[in-house]
Amino acid sequence: ATLIINTQKEKAISDKLIGVFFEDISYAADGGIYAELVQNRDFEYSSKDRTEWKATTAWQSTKPLVIASEQPLSKSNPHHVVLSQDTLVNNGWDGIAIKPGEKYDFSFFVRNLDVTKKTFQITLIAENGDVIASQQIKTEGQIWKKYTATLITKVPKELSTYTDFMNCRLAIIPLKKGSSVVDMISLFPKNTFKGRKNGLRKDLAQVIADLHPKFVRFPGGCATHGDGIDNIYHWYHTIGELHNRIPDRNIWGYHQTRGLGFYEYFQFCEDIGAEPFPVLAAGVPCQNSGADRNGIGGQQCGIDMKDMPTYIEEFFNLIEWANGDPATNKWAKMRAEAGHPAPFHLKYIGVGNEDLISTTFKERYLMICKAIKEKYPEIVICGTAGPFHTPSSDYIEGWEIANANRSIIDMIDEHYYESTGWFINHTDYYDQYDRKGAKVYLGEYAASTQARRSNVETALAEAVYLCHIERNGDIVEMASYAPLLAKDNHRNWDPNLIYFTNTDIRTTPSYETQRIFSLYGGDRYIETSVNIDERLKNRVVVSVVRDSKSGKTHLKMVNALPRELKLDIRGLQLPATVTAEGFAGNPDNQNLKVKVSSLPINGSILTLPPYSLNAITL
Ligand code: AHR
Repeated sequence: ATLIINTQKEKAISDKLIGVFFEDISYAADGGIYAELVQNRDFEYSSKDRTEWKATTAWQSTKPLVIASEQPLSKSNPHHVVLSQDTLVNNGWDGIAIKPGEKYDFSFFVRNLDVTKKTFQITLIAENGDVIASQQIKTEGQIWKKYTATLITKVPKELSTYTDFMNCRLAIIPLKKGSSVVDMISLFPKNTFKGRKNGLRKDLAQVIADLHPKFVRFPGGCATHGDGIDNIYHWYHTIGELHNRIPDRNIWGYHQTRGLGFYEYFQFCEDIGAEPFPVLAAGVPCQNSGADRNGIGGQQCGIDMKDMPTYIEEFFNLIEWANGDPATNKWAKMRAEAGHPAPFHLKYIGVGNEDLISTTFKERYLMICKAIKEKYPEIVICGTAGPFHTPSSDYIEGWEIANANRSIIDMIDEHYYESTGWFINHTDYYDQYDRKGAKVYLGEYAASTQARRSNVETALAEAVYLCHIERNGDIVEMASYAPLLAKDNHRNWDPNLIYFTNTDIRTTPSYETQRIFSLYGGDRYIETSVNIDERLKNRVVVSVVRDSKSGKTHLKMVNALPRELKLDIRGLQLPATVTAEGFAGNPDNQNLKVKVSSLPINGSILTLPPYSLNAITL
């Protein structure tokens, strides 16, 4: 095949193409990236989260546990446990993974029920019975007070046996007579990502940071609009003191503590140099909660119109909280008090998530977009194209609405999960999009096979498609694979980009594709064509971009054929040796990593291995 690169013909493309979409699905947040090790720390689990769950789930004691709600620590967290003489034990999320020789921050709130002072022994016990760490905490007084201790775990030589991570339980042992009530029992590794308090699991956050995402969309997905009006995600429920945040059931069948809230999301974005891209519900829950296209039939299909002005204030308040001046705005003051006086420079807001394009939706959606644009014209508003892509009527209508309202809708979020064949055969998908219309945010996509796991086949199909997205980077502004994270044994969805347990992380071939396209991205697309048999043209695809900041030109080359391919490169001088970063493997290989290698080169001819993706910089 011959690759013709026409360096005289280039066009501006988005420099924010590759980002991530973080949703609390498959235990991505609580029990996942949020580093809290205690499960149900606030005793707020209930059958609303999951039928068999209750306030004592994940806790054990020698006697039946007593849950009380008089004089709560916070009205957002009405329940607490009564502790008398019995040891209280937490099992964590599938255990508590503790490293020997490390520090852990323990804290709890206690209110003694009588005047005598109390002492609690806080202990980490390994499965083999070894005490890994222990500390005493003395409490006094009959009002709620927070107590903290640093648990320093024993070093390997002090333990009978040890592994890198010891699977532990946390025990709280009352040593004195009398009773206390206890709430918000928390244990964090000191060593979180960037050392943040109330922070993120370092390894998981790092593996996302390694993608160098240009933006992070959060907090969902379906988790954003929820499964009913009472389950819509209100961002301001997730900021402030942890015990005052309002937990809620997760549409994916578990519980959201909101410990990972908007402050933590924005902080993470700043820590990894990504644009924060929050998305909030368009005044309707998931698919308008079963309402028909005219909004009829659902019990509660949209926020009551009389309450919409108050709901719209939530968007304004978010913008002020993120960008406002703490001296003049109460929301910005909350940001400053949380530890971030400087603005977060929020530029993007998503309104709605793959909603059914009903009358109920349209009314509320346009009302929100108009109100934001009027007050904050500088904010880029991203609307939704409805649940399915072409040729669904929602998709067509979603786009019609956007293009009829260009002054208030800047970008449209499209979602599609398709087969590898679909991605390989739709490499002209965006070629016909109206360049005067709203920009595209491909907010959720993934290629899958019957096995519903990322493998080399899906990763190459996504690479082929990303070449096409780069070529259309003048209309496609952003793209994010979904879902991002999934914990083993708690998966709501497959395939995912990154799988994990309490101690391990498995990235996928699709992760490697995302990383290559992120690291070898640019802001100028250079025209190319591959001369090859028509039947193979969607399997041998190259994208050439230039990064005007560094002046570097990057080539991404996909060979999705089962054989080696000699690529004769015209229009750019190849050096004598080329170092490439990429992967090659059997299509069903689910477990490979990018390697740096020298590609065989002979004059202008590069040899690409079978089933491979390679990136080179010239
Ligand atoms: O990514 C998983 C889910 O897929 C998202 O929550 C939703 O937007 C889509 O249906």
